[in-house]
Amino acid sequence: MALLEIKKAGDPVLKKICAPVEKIDKRLRKLLDDMAETMYASEGVGIAAPQVGKSIRVCVVDVDKKNRYDMINPVITYREGSQVGEEGCLSCPDLFGDVERAAKIRVEYISRFNKKKTLEAEGLLGRCIQHELDHLDGQLFIDVAKNITKGRKEKNGGQE
Ligand code: NI
Repeated sequence: MALLEIKKAGDPVLKKICAPVEKIDKRLRKLLDDMAETMYASEGVGIAAPQVGKSIRVCVVDVDKKNRYDMINPVITYREGSQVGEEGCLSCPDLFGDVERAAKIRVEYISRFNKKKTLEAEGLLGRCIQHELDHLDGQLFIDVAKNITKGRKEKNGGQE
């Protein structure tokens, strides 16, 4: 595995709409492993492919260091309610802000071994998945957040 360079806000790759993955192979699985290693090394809870310079619809999420989700071509198929919570982003170091997200979602994606998966998520996991999927459409949380500050206001949560 290898640590990858994290692209920072201002890099044009973060503003692009990512292309769907067409082939799931060893190379993609290596990218997923490298993304996960980079995320853990940066104390992140999620990372999307454009954050490491790859404009493809792939993200890795792990909010409790127990359950890692490698998501290929993820799509949110159901949303319910709304919640406002603090977010940060590995591509926007030291910035935090409040973002309104759906309280509960259902996401469909392809696993690293080419299996169709469905996951229902709420709380931090649901928030993180919505944040990562925004990355795949070229949107950063600072584009939609309110009350952006330098430094974290709350102790929980993580950088996505
Ligand atoms: Ni992010």
